[in-house]
Amino acid sequence: MSIHISAQKGDIAKTVLLPGDPLRAKYIADNFLQDVKLVSQTRNIYFFTGTYNGKPISVGASGMGCPSIGIYSYELFTEYEVDTIIRIGTCGAYTTKLKLFDLVNVDNAASESTFAKYAWGIKDSLIRHQGKAFKTIKQTAKTLDMPIRNCNIHSSDIFYRKDLKIPKVAADNKCLAVEMEAFALFANAKYLGKNAATILTVSDIIPTHEKISADQREKSLLPMMKLALEAGIQL
Ligand code: HPA
Repeated sequence: MSIHISAQKGDIAKTVLLPGDPLRAKYIADNFLQDVKLVSQTRNIYFFTGTYNGKPISVGASGMGCPSIGIYSYELFTEYEVDTIIRIGTCGAYTTKLKLFDLVNVDNAASESTFAKYAWGIKDSLIRHQGKAFKTIKQTAKTLDMPIRNCNIHSSDIFYRKDLKIPKVAADNKCLAVEMEAFALFANAKYLGKNAATILTVSDIIPTHEKISADQREKSLLPMMKLALEAGIQL
């Protein structure tokens, strides 16, 4: 048990997929995994462990924002001996170069967040994916014939803001899209010497206000889930 996860040691696999939403973690467990066990439900943040193609894998939720993923990823890495975390989530595109449903493999996450600085003394506002997971995702996408864009994204601390122009940290680092967690995940993995990657599905195009509709949402995330599982079992 850790402070925020009630699983027993050994109940969590070496590779963990981390969507933001607990119900998305449950959806993956119900629809993709075999021999599934619910191993933690503290705060309704579900963690499940099962197998995919016969290989052990866990899926749980990160919650929203750097503070939340900072807690769950740290406890997974340090208390459950997790080697690799693949965040799977949605992002808003800052540019019409990205289209709805596009997949993104995050190369670097840029942020105005103070998380990395105050947690680990990492002063950079741009942190790279960590270890081999990014490359495995890239190769797996190729094998599965799934187009995926490798690019920088902005991990914003803010969802609602008065100024609608692209924030400076995002523009300076050529970020094509925005989400809210990859930066803290990469910072923890960098400090701890672990593997971390982030796959995102474009759910909205900020300049045109296009959005994936509520009824398209579940189905639209299936390719990302499959890619993360197929890559995850190789790590
Ligand atoms: N901002 C932050 N996170 C997001 C967005 C957004 O517009 N869309 C999906 N995740």
